[in-house]
Formats: sequence, structure tokens, C-alpha cells
Amino acid sequence: MGMATDRPRVLSGIQPTAGSFHLGNYLGAVRQWVALQESHDAFYMVVDLHAITVPQDPKELRANTRLAAAQLLAAGLDPERCTLFVQSHVPEHAQLGWVMNCLTGFGEASRMTQFKDKSAKQGSDRATVGLFTYPILQVADILLYQANEVPVGEDQRQHIELTRDLAERFNGRYGQTFTVPKPHIIKETAKIFDLQDPTAKMSKSTANPKGLVNLLDEPKVTVKKVKSAVTDTDTEIRFDAEAKPGVSNLLTIYSTLTGTGIPELEQKYAGKGYGALKTDLAEVMAEFVTPFRTRTQEYLDDPETLDSILAKGAEKARAVAAETLATTYERIGFLPAKH
Ligand code: AMP
Ligand code: TRP
Repeated sequence: MGMATDRPRVLSGIQPTAGSFHLGNYLGAVRQWVALQESHDAFYMVVDLHAITVPQDPKELRANTRLAAAQLLAAGLDPERCTLFVQSHVPEHAQLGWVMNCLTGFGEASRMTQFKDKSAKQGSDRATVGLFTYPILQVADILLYQANEVPVGEDQRQHIELTRDLAERFNGRYGQTFTVPKPHIIKETAKIFDLQDPTAKMSKSTANPKGLVNLLDEPKVTVKKVKSAVTDTDTEIRFDAEAKPGVSNLLTIYSTLTGTGIPELEQKYAGKGYGALKTDLAEVMAEFVTPFRTRTQEYLDDPETLDSILAKGAEKARAVAAETLATTYERIGFLPAKH
């Protein structure tokens, strides 16, 4: 590999389920992925195995997988500086996933809050066993690459904790095998809130689509959503996540997209009222999403290039994953296959 291997390693993944990424995905995770490719040996993947924990239409899944990769490239991932791949192209994920399933307690898996939330939404008859064991597949995703850090939003913290527990358990039982990873969660953007309900996380499954900023929406739709964001009855522009969640969320978004500090923004809008803040933020958003949409479309218009980027990524990923899996199998006591 041409990449500097003395750099610490990062790994992360995103599901190809919703079509467009939303602002929470970008600010909470993808933005960090782009930054980390400069300083780390970075592995990023589109997690299609995770996607099928809920029913997927085959055609849509295939299209959304390419769409997710196109958006990651449009956001700034550079295949020369990171390894970008599709999870199902690397069979070792499912293989190490099984090993990790056999290391996890049933009660331990039952405590994963994301499963509880997601299965409550679907009803326990419709929730699959795959949805239940999904965090354990995520553990395998991370451990296969010996990742030091995992850049994600706050909602993934518990899964990284599980990863650490299982890595330590395996290492304790079979000898040092896996790097114990740390979450890389940026406090300011760890949780971006819904524009209509600023106490709830921005999420693709929101009740009110006006609260969700999809990066591939028409810029004028985004402008409208920002301008009708819920704030409060007061008029003071001040960051206070408890007392003023709506305004604080807008300040976080504004600050991160422009690189302007929040105190500076508070000063700039002192005495100006929410309208001015929203109008300017709407413009900032439009300037951000317009080129993002164009770049995404350019990658989609050239599926051959896109697929070849993913093929090269899978090849690089497999080299690392296969080595970890071979060591793992050997430690466990599986009889080596004769060649
Ligand atoms: P998902 O769409 O569930 O695959 O999430 C992809 C990434 O986006 C994960 O790292 C999540 O933690 C992150 N993420 C999702 N929603 C938000 C949000 N509202 N705020 C911050 N990060 C988020
Ligand atoms: N579970 C993550 C999510 O829903 C996606 C994911 C799968 C992931 N495998 C991963 C994130 C490995 C970080 C590392 O967002």
C-alpha cells in the first residue's frame, strides 16, 4: 500500500438506506471523515450488510449504495488519501461478525439502546434477529481493521463501548489480537437536532420532514426549512442548549459550516433578532448544498469510475481484513484449511 502505515488508523461506516445524507450525518460524522484522511490511515465504508436489518428493495439498495459512495466523494473523501469501499465486497465482515456473536452475552446485546428504539418503532414481531445483532457486526467492522479511532455521532457511542469490551474480552481469552478503539466524537456536532423539534436528534425517520435537512434537496427547499426552524418566544441570540435549544442548534450549524466561532456569531447578531440569523444561515446552507449536489450528480453520471474506485477500495480493505481474520481463526483454534 502506498499509504503511510505509521499513522493511526480510523474506520467508520454509513448506511445506504435513506438516499440523501442529512445534515446530522454530515456534521456529526462525514465532515470528520474528510478531515481525518489528512492525518490518519482512513477506512470508510458504505454498510450495506447493516442496511438489510430492515427490509430493502433490491434495486433501491443497489442505487442507494452508489448514491452513498457518490455523496462521500462529493463531501471530500479522496480515494488517493483514504480507502473507500462497500461492506459486502469484503466477506470478512460477516465472518468476523459470527465470531463476535459467539463472544457476546445475550443480555449484553439486549442492552443496546438503538435496538430498543428501532425495534419499538417496528414492533417486536417485525424486528429481525439481524437488527438485534447489528451492533455486533459493527464490532467486527471496527476490529477487522485494528482501528484506533472511530469517528461517529453521539448515537453510536454505546456501540463503540461494546467494541472495546469485546476486543478486551477476546484479547484476554486468546492473547493480544485486537486494537481497542476509541470513539472520535466531536462534542459540538455530536448531535445535530431536528429543526422543528430541537430536543430530538435530526434523523431520517423524523415525524416531521420539515425538521430534516437532506443535503440533496433542492436548495430552495432547504432555505425554506431553515427559515421556518423552531426557535423560542424570546428574541435573544445566545448559545444555551438547555434554555434555547432551537437557536443553539442553528448557531452550531452556522458556526461549523462557516468556521466562525459561536461567540463571534452571538456578537454579530446581538439585537438583530432571529429573522436575520435564519436568513443568513439559509444562504450559508444553500451555498453548501448547491456544489454538493452538483458533485454528487457528476459521480453518479459516471458509474464506471465510481465502481472502479470502490473496487480498488475493496481490494485494499480485504488485504487488511483477511490478515486479521486469519489471526483470529488461528487464535480460536480453527483447523487451518490445507492448500
Ligand atoms: P446512519 O445514517 O445511521 O448510518 O448514521 C451515519 C453517521 O451519522 C453516524 O456516525 C451517526 O452517529 C451520525 N449521525 C446521524 N444522525 C446524527 C445527528 N442528528 N447528529 C450527529 N450525528 C448524527
Ligand atoms: N451503525 C452505524 C450507524 O448506524 C454505521 C456503522 C456500521 C458503523 N459499521 C460501523 C460506524 C463501523 C462506525 C464503525 O450509523
